[in-house]
Amino acid sequence: MKPGDRLMRHYLQFKDLRAEEYGYLFERARIIKTRFKNYEKYNPLVDRTLAMIFEKASTRTRVSFEAGMYQMGGSVVHLTATDSQFGRDEPVEDAARVISRMVDIVMIRTFEQSKLEAFAAHSRVPVINGLTNEHHPCQVLADVFTYIEQRGSIAGKVVAWVGDGNNMANTWLQAADILGFTLHLSTPSGYEVDAQRVGIRNPRCVKTFKSPFAACEGAHLVTTDVWTSMGYEAENEARQKAFADWCVDAQMMQLAQRDALFMHCLPAHRGEEVAAEVIDGPQSVVWDEAENRMHVQKALMEYLLLGRIG
Ligand code: CP
Ligand code: NVA
Repeated sequence: MKPGDRLMRHYLQFKDLRAEEYGYLFERARIIKTRFKNYEKYNPLVDRTLAMIFEKASTRTRVSFEAGMYQMGGSVVHLTATDSQFGRDEPVEDAARVISRMVDIVMIRTFEQSKLEAFAAHSRVPVINGLTNEHHPCQVLADVFTYIEQRGSIAGKVVAWVGDGNNMANTWLQAADILGFTLHLSTPSGYEVDAQRVGIRNPRCVKTFKSPFAACEGAHLVTTDVWTSMGYEAENEARQKAFADWCVDAQMMQLAQRDALFMHCLPAHRGEEVAAEVIDGPQSVVWDEAENRMHVQKALMEYLLLGRIG
């Protein structure tokens, strides 16, 4: 692909795709997952290379992208801040110009969204957000796919977010706006989501609650995340105090719908943002959620590189 190519698309935030495109991707992910489970070979990305750039730690994102790319016949280059010039202040624009001449698609996990955007603006190939301080679209892509697998359409449903107004919360908010569900948000004071900054069109897709218990009432899905995200470790002590009442426990789950699901993007801290009995209990789908990262990202890479199939 060349710069300015009309067909080239990046995936930097959840709102980069339309509802109808998500419908397509969820169906492709279902087909790709079924083939994988049946040990059917599917190698549409032979001779294609994915560069993965990690400036923060990862388990799921690395394994899901790397395994997924190999399963589709492609290969992977893995770069970190410590083993590349990324950690030595080479301008991100220069890195983008160089890396994107050698590979077909790039996944980046970094700090500021603006850095990811600067890379994408100078890239000849599609760029995928593998997590920034502000967004984590691949995770919510997997989460919504997991909800659909378990319960059907998410449109019209209620998702309760209990915890930090972080990258995951921002992404859930964009997803609610695009996919037509309602997000019940409960964050401690000082850790709110800035809906204006996240950029939503329908203000009715979000309701905020002081009490995390009230947020969970009637929810079809309850979800949370760590109290201290990567890059915010210096705030850990203050956060431990501020978030003490934002632990998803059995009492909160009881206020949700009887068949409500529990999700967590992982890694989790039992006894902090979630009680062990919830994450290890019957309503939790966290392992399916983690596995589905791979299936949805295979569908996403296929879409960004090959367009619609069939
Ligand atoms: N959920 C998620 O992105 O996990 P990793 O940080 O392990 O990649
Ligand atoms: N909000 C967390 C998500 C980790 C997958 C973080 O950014 O560290």
